[in-house]
Amino acid sequence: MLSRLSSTSDAVNGPMLFIAGTSIFLLIAITLVMIYFTIRYHRRRNPVVTEEIHGHKVLEIVWTVIPTLIAFGFFWYGWVGYELMKSPPKDAMQVNVTARQWSWMHEYANGVQSGELYVPVNEPVQLNLKSMDVIHSYYIPAFKVKQDAVPGVKNLFLWFQANQVGDYDVFCAEYCGLNHSAMLSKVHVMTREDFDSWMKTENEKAQELAKAAAAAEKGGGGAGMVSLGESLVKSKGCTACHSIDGSVLIGPSYKGIYGHSTTVMTNGKERQVTVDDEYIRRSILQPKADIVKGFQPLMPSQEGVLDDKQIDALIAYIKSLK
Ligand code: CUA
Repeated sequence: MLSRLSSTSDAVNGPMLFIAGTSIFLLIAITLVMIYFTIRYHRRRNPVVTEEIHGHKVLEIVWTVIPTLIAFGFFWYGWVGYELMKSPPKDAMQVNVTARQWSWMHEYANGVQSGELYVPVNEPVQLNLKSMDVIHSYYIPAFKVKQDAVPGVKNLFLWFQANQVGDYDVFCAEYCGLNHSAMLSKVHVMTREDFDSWMKTENEKAQELAKAAAAAEKGGGGAGMVSLGESLVKSKGCTACHSIDGSVLIGPSYKGIYGHSTTVMTNGKERQVTVDDEYIRRSILQPKADIVKGFQPLMPSQEGVLDDKQIDALIAYIKSLK
């Protein structure tokens, strides 16, 4: 509970301990005084009321001033921690995070994208948050940091400096729809060397993707598009839910669907559709429009993630999986 895995942990631990400690102290003190009074001033001991008490200025001032000071103490202590959490070091590594129903996308300054966050240990990292649809909240319990991503609101960020290598959970802490609870990610805290080699691999993957895209551009379609589609399917994580060999995962397989008829649920009604360019495009951009019978409506929209050209490449690739 009082872990100190990040540089800002104490900004939360301190005030929490202070508030809990003060509350426990007051609870015990007040209870003891109450018990003492019940015994000391019991009617059996004091059968005759000798004097009625009407107010006591000093006491009243004391019990107003002391709680006020305590409340200000809470505020001040919390404020100091808040200031720290809102003052990222200038040299913090910048990562842009895009939230959407229901996934997180992390993008580094060099354009490398990743569904999970990879950071070097003992270096400050600043996450700049943006939401494409509804309010989400980026939450790393281990580091005691949390920040809402609100659509249309800029300059939302959080920062931390992890001080221990390891993998930590990332949650969405704002109810954002059906799959809110599955909107998970990870922070991988690595040594600088491991981080650099991870970044190098990712960079190469990104360049391969760019090369495939360029080839597709030149070739005006055909094989270039298919290989671009293949690279995209791998790099965007599509294969986590859609197999390319016909096996059924969370979503339907890509293999052998093109040109065939399939049963989908549209607005709660069953209907037959033919898997063509238009159907695939709609399934990528508005995955909830038609749900293939037997599957759950889990897929997040790729609006803003994939451009037209990339979707064409995906269609070409799916077409090629006979
Ligand atoms: Cu995103 Cu809850």
